[in-house]
Amino acid sequence: MNESQDTTRRAALVTGSSRGIGLAVAEQLAAAGFNVALNCSSEAGLSALREQAGRIAGEHGVQVVAIAASVADEAEANALVEQAHEAFGRLDAVVNNAGITRDGLMVRMKDDDFDRVIDVNLKGTFHICRAAGKIMMKQRYGRIVNMSSISGVGGNAGQANYAASKAGVIGLTKTIARELAARGVTANAVAPGFISTDMTDALSEKQREAIGEQIPMKRFGTVDDVAHLVGFLASEESGYITGQVICIDGGLAL
Ligand SMILES: NC(=O)c1ccc[n+]([C@@H]2O[C@H](COP(=O)([O-])OP(=O)(O)OC[C@H]3O[C@@H](n4cnc5c(N)ncnc54)[C@H](O)[C@@H]3O)[C@@H](O)[C@H]2O)c1
Repeated sequence: MNESQDTTRRAALVTGSSRGIGLAVAEQLAAAGFNVALNCSSEAGLSALREQAGRIAGEHGVQVVAIAASVADEAEANALVEQAHEAFGRLDAVVNNAGITRDGLMVRMKDDDFDRVIDVNLKGTFHICRAAGKIMMKQRYGRIVNMSSISGVGGNAGQANYAASKAGVIGLTKTIARELAARGVTANAVAPGFISTDMTDALSEKQREAIGEQIPMKRFGTVDDVAHLVGFLASEESGYITGQVICIDGGLAL
């Protein structure tokens, strides 16, 4: 333990937290009193991430560190978990939020686009779960929250790669929930529907309107809608929930 560590607070790592849902989750956890490790995929984003870290720390009176690492790379993912653990002397919650899309119809999909999405969304989640799981098992406490998608629950035309990765995240989550339960570690998946972020900004206005019509609540979700759910699953109070997939989609996948 080093002197600057505040080990009285719970500590969390949120992958892909430079923007969108990940950033909102990080803020939610900081507001709940967690020290937080933010993550972006490469060194190029690190100075902006450090600014976010300073802002969140100032607003919530917690420690926030910024770490560049691609979760798709085994060595970088291991180092990310190690650095987050070292920064705070503990690791209570991990939110595997980093994710990408490379959409296209299956018959035209390139291997590269399939592989990259699996590498980041599924293998990246596995890398972080494995490294964090070891620490949490020793601690006999942990909360793992993995970002899936309703595409992984029900499939989605144009997203064979993404849906496969997110369905894989569900299988991974249910399995590790069984493996880690006896050590006080829970693992759950969150499956958002359409949430307003840079990811869904890629949709055209016409597509957004058509999707909005199909959502019983007639609106896209907000990043805060998702962050509140993740905040609960990352908290002590969710301790008897494990291996679940919770859809947060305004009723779309009912
Ligand atoms: N926006 C939605 O409607 C929606 C719906 C369902 C699921 N999701 C999932 O929620 C998560 C966040 O989505 P978002 O909409 O905020 O997306 P976003 O594109 O705004 O943010 C994704 C984040 O992941 C990071 N990232 C990408 N590759 C990475 C890597 N290799 N290593 C580390 N970080 C990496 C990005 O830098 C970014 O910070 C994703 O897993 C996404 O699949 C989003």
